[in-house]
Formats: sequence, C-alpha cells, structure tokens
Amino acid sequence: MDVAVELARDFLAGLDERHVGAGMPASAIRERLGGSSVPERGTDPIEVVRDLAQAVAPGIVASAGPRYFGFVVGGVLPAALGADLLTAAWSQNGALHALSPAAAAAEDVAGAWMLDLLGLPAGASVGLPTGAGLGNAVGIAAARHALLARAGWDAEERGLYGAPEITVLLGEEAHATVDTALQYLGLGRGRVTRVPADGQGRLRADALSEMLDGVDGPALVIAQAGNVNTGAFDPLGAVADALRAHDNAWLHVDGAFGLWAAVSPRLRHLVEGVERADSWSTDAHKWLNAGYDCGFVAVRDAGAHRAAMAGSGAYLMRSDAERENWEYVPDSSRRARGFALYAAIRSLGREGMRALVERCCDLATRMAGQLAEGDGVAILNDVVLNQVLVRFGDSDDHTRAVINGVQEGGTAWLGGTTWQGRAAMRISVSNWSTTEADADLSVQSILRAHRAHG
Ligand SMILES: Cc1ncc(COP(=O)(O)O)c(C=O)c1O
Repeated sequence: MDVAVELARDFLAGLDERHVGAGMPASAIRERLGGSSVPERGTDPIEVVRDLAQAVAPGIVASAGPRYFGFVVGGVLPAALGADLLTAAWSQNGALHALSPAAAAAEDVAGAWMLDLLGLPAGASVGLPTGAGLGNAVGIAAARHALLARAGWDAEERGLYGAPEITVLLGEEAHATVDTALQYLGLGRGRVTRVPADGQGRLRADALSEMLDGVDGPALVIAQAGNVNTGAFDPLGAVADALRAHDNAWLHVDGAFGLWAAVSPRLRHLVEGVERADSWSTDAHKWLNAGYDCGFVAVRDAGAHRAAMAGSGAYLMRSDAERENWEYVPDSSRRARGFALYAAIRSLGREGMRALVERCCDLATRMAGQLAEGDGVAILNDVVLNQVLVRFGDSDDHTRAVINGVQEGGTAWLGGTTWQGRAAMRISVSNWSTTEADADLSVQSILRAHRAHG
C-alpha cells in the first residue's frame, strides 16, 4: 500500500504538467501488460503494483486534471480520494446491511444530503448506481412499475407480454443512455415518440402538450436537465404542467450534470419545477468530482422504486429497520460508493458546491468569450452552463483538424460532436481544480491549432 500511495502521489504531483491525452493505444498497452498468457507463477505484490503503474502509464488520460474538457468528466476531490483509498482497504460489500452497516449508513446520509442539495423531495428514495445512465434505467423501471400497477398490471411478475402499452415521450435531444435504458426495459428504443426540440436542444413543451392530448393510457415523459452538447435545459416547469391533465403519467428527469444547477441561486432558475418530477438521475462523478464511479437516482414513490429493483433470496438477510442499498439499484454485490460521496459533499459543503458549479460556468463563459474573438471562430450555443460548442472556419474538416491538433498538442484535451448537422468542438468545464490560468492556456492552444490549420 505504501508503494501504491507513493505512486499515486507522484502521479497527482505531475498531473498538471502531463500531456493530457493518452500516448499509446490499448493494443500496445496490452503487450506491456504481458499479453494474453496467464502467468504460471505468482509475483511479489510490490513488483506487481510497480510494474502495473509503469506498464499502463502511457495509456492513462489526465482526465483528473484541470485541462481535460472532454465528454462531461469530473476529477476527484482530495477528501473523496482519501475516502476511496479507505473504501478499497475496507473492501466492504455495499449490498446488504448485514454485510456492512457502515456502507448502508453512508448511503443513507449522503443520499439525504444529495436530495437536499439538489432541491428534491426529502422523502424520495435514493440509489447509487454506477452512473446517471444506469440511474435513468432505474428511474424508468420505477416508472414502468407504477404506471402499469395503476393500470392493474404487475410488470415485475408478468413481464410486458400482454401488458397495457406505455406511451413514452422524450425530447429529440435526449441522451443516448435514455435509449439504452428503454432498450434494457423492453419499452423499445424505436417505439418512442420524439418531441421536437428548439435550436438549443430544449424539448418544446407546447409540442409535448399537444402530443399528450392524443395519449390514452399510461404515459412516461423523459425530460433532460443539461444537454450533453449545449448544456441547455428542457423547460421542466412547463413539462410538469403538460403532464398535469393526464391521470396516469410519470415524469423522469435525466440531469447527469445539469441537476447541479440547483445548488446555485444564480442558476437555479434553469431547473425551475424539477421537484415536481417523479424520478431523477444525476452523477456524483461528474460535477461533484467524487471520483469514479458514482451515479445517483431518486424516486418520489419509494415503494415503486423498491418494487422495480429489489429481489429476495432465503439466505439474503433483510433488515426491516435498516437501509438495504441493493434494493435501489440493479447490482447486488457492489463497491461501497457512499463513503466517497459522503466525503466529497462534506469537504465542499453547500457553499463549496455552489462555488464549484459557478466557477466552472464562469470559466466556460470566459473561454467562449476569448474564442469568439478569434477570426473564423463561431460559438454555436448559448453558454448557459458549463458547455461550449465551437466551430472553426465554418468547415467540418477544419473543425476536426483543430480538435486533433489540440489533442496532439497535449496542453488540453477536448472532443468533438455533430451539432445540427455541423461538426463542432465540445468544451465541458467540470473539474474542481480548473483555474482561469488553465482556461486561458487551453484557449491559446485551441487558437494555435486553429491558425495552424487555417
Ligand atoms: C444528459 C446525460 N445523461 C446521461 C449521461 C450518462 O452518464 P454516465 O456515463 O455517468 O452513466 C450523460 C453523460 O454525459 C449525460 O450527459
């Protein structure tokens, strides 16, 4: 362990200076790890740990560092890292209370703190899945249970054969993991009704309202807080209004990073009405910077949540008085995610979380402002949160060349996307340690790549 801590410390000390992207593909690292033959004899643990660190080093991405702007990725706060080291040493199976009362208590406390921070109903039940994607699946499974139960059908017992149809409505800019959740749950990716979105990717509540008028029977609406490209929010209050006239409807909100707008008085208006939904999914490993992995799902109707997720077995000791973590997520044996989550929230406090979210948004605005001054640079989105979309020379090829140039340069790392048919660079400012100097250095490297490929 001392060797591991020393290696980790060296890694963290060099994080800021490192080439941000990886220097080697997995196929080359495989060979450095010894290829596919199982070693016949064991190796001393210290040697194993040292060799591992050395072998994989070129494939480690500095995504924990301050100039990584790809996807929507957070780093790890010092307190969360400390808690995670202990979690590894404790090696608790976080599934059952009987396996770890400590893990159950940490999820209980951190879960309640999350509800409070995010402005969600205090009585909602909470699960910590691997990420927001699986959180979407849990929320939708709870919806499936409740909508069909109200229609007199037991989905868990009877499956979907012969069940009343659930009409699923979602914005045309819904995240890919919503589709996979529908795919896992037998609701069908292809038979959903896609509600038109506006130029920023926000579901149009007027169109949703009209579509709902034609729905007879159970209706599931999936809204989004924070579009993965633009950062835009579906109008949650208006969406909740549209559902009001429907007597068997459920609203799930996918807010993988956007739900965190609730911690800022300045940004809270973006999630206005969020508390009126029935289930919510977000991530702690993104904007909270609690380290990988930790998702979060909350369901207003705790009974529906448990009915959709919980199983039973004669040997699985169930406590009626205590929390059973596994009853709120699809996995049984699991890492005790609550410790790092607890540590991250406790180290920041409400005030620190507000500051972190606002700082990232300010840095996104700063980067967009500086980039917009470059010749031939266009910002494609309204920068309302921490996401910026940039296009160069009004050309797909040029834009992709700039993205490659920045990645190769190594000062920063950011990825690309296609927004409304045009190639764009995506900047997501989500790391707790990013400073103005990091933002400025990154903008300089982007503009350098733009000039080099102009
Ligand atoms: C809106 C949205 N939903 C879901 C996800 C999936 O999150 P995860 O990969 O943590 O499961 C993301 C990831 O960026 C997202 O932006």
